[in-house]
Amino acid sequence: MIATHSERIRSAVIGCGRMGAVTSEAMRRFAPPAWMPLSHAEAVLAQPCLELVGVCDIAPEPLAAAAARFSVPAYADYRQLLDALRPKLVTVATRTPERPDVIAASLAAGARALHLEKPLCNSVAQLTQLEALFADPSLACTFGTLRRYMPIYHRARTLASEAYFGGLSQVQVNMGKAPLMWTHPHSIDLLLFLAGDRPVKSVSARFADGSVERHGSRIDGDPVVTSILFEFDDGLSGVIGQTGGCDVVLAGNNGTIAVESDGRRLRIRTSEGSDIYWDRHLLEEADGSPGGTRLALDRLVEGLNGNAAQILADKRAILTGQRLLLACGQSHLAGGAAVDPAQLDPKLVITGRSGNRYA
Ligand SMILES: NC(=O)c1ccc[n+]([C@@H]2O[C@H](COP(=O)([O-])OP(=O)(O)OC[C@H]3O[C@@H](n4cnc5c(N)ncnc54)[C@H](O)[C@@H]3O)[C@@H](O)[C@H]2O)c1
Repeated sequence: MIATHSERIRSAVIGCGRMGAVTSEAMRRFAPPAWMPLSHAEAVLAQPCLELVGVCDIAPEPLAAAAARFSVPAYADYRQLLDALRPKLVTVATRTPERPDVIAASLAAGARALHLEKPLCNSVAQLTQLEALFADPSLACTFGTLRRYMPIYHRARTLASEAYFGGLSQVQVNMGKAPLMWTHPHSIDLLLFLAGDRPVKSVSARFADGSVERHGSRIDGDPVVTSILFEFDDGLSGVIGQTGGCDVVLAGNNGTIAVESDGRRLRIRTSEGSDIYWDRHLLEEADGSPGGTRLALDRLVEGLNGNAAQILADKRAILTGQRLLLACGQSHLAGGAAVDPAQLDPKLVITGRSGNRYA
């Protein structure tokens, strides 16, 4: 049954920092309109089927600020919030180390829809635990890798499937010289999405010297990525390097399709007739519509209303992306060797720590 305005879904936000409650000034200023509303709480308020019933943070200041701004009860302990409010939808915007426990507690308290910040977790052991929890077919999950929900990236994927493009041969994501756990959950998820979520055969990755410390199977730090190569099982390749700009480039035999500047526009290059140079340019500017985290929450509402295929696909993408992230660490530890993401070291951990802050 479709949820209506009068029976809104009880929703709570855990973690009231930038992603939970206060969109950063830099994002407000620079990000394309399609990224707003970005914070979880703002997105809950923008989704008419949802009702924000409470917020939680262990730090008093952001908690008090969020509770006052959104006029909802404040909890310093997420277990107390879950116990008292029994939200059906929970959004989790803490840092990563506590995330698996928050997820498990939310489900135990009856939540059926989760919007989770990236990355999902820090270890293969936690991923295995989360794979088991996500197996519940009635649980809907979406992720902070929002580009996969944005229309302009869907448009790029559709264009790449058209005959003139000549078949997709490579996807390259350009997010600069950036840390694995903080930035590249986005790159990896986007790459997977544009590759049609097809199976990845191997992952090879190298990190910048000195960006992490190794203790056996434990990588301490947030590795600065110099290169990642994904090989898909049908010959498609995916590349993440150090080029910046927040662009993604899809390459086909007859041209390229780029989504530039985090979704500001789409640029198509191709040729006329048999010209081998791709000098024909077409630009499509984004239409300026809002979207952001609201797009993910819309999907959760659809999931709660019974869209089983979408629920399954969204959860599979989250788990696969996390598996590929961990596979990058395993490849680096093996000197950049190609790693089968299905064969991860069960002891592998990537702390994602930068100083005393975690991704
Ligand atoms: N999707 C995106 O584009 C995007 C952008 C930035 C950050 N992130 C991710 O979002 C997460 C949060 O990032 P941020 O920049 O908002 O961080 P932040 O530090 O601003 O906010 C995190 C908040 O969680 C709170 N917290 C920590 N442990 C808690 C617990 N056990 N219970 C309740 N609250 C707890 C902290 O006190 C803090 O207020 C990170 O994992 C980050 O990687 C995603």
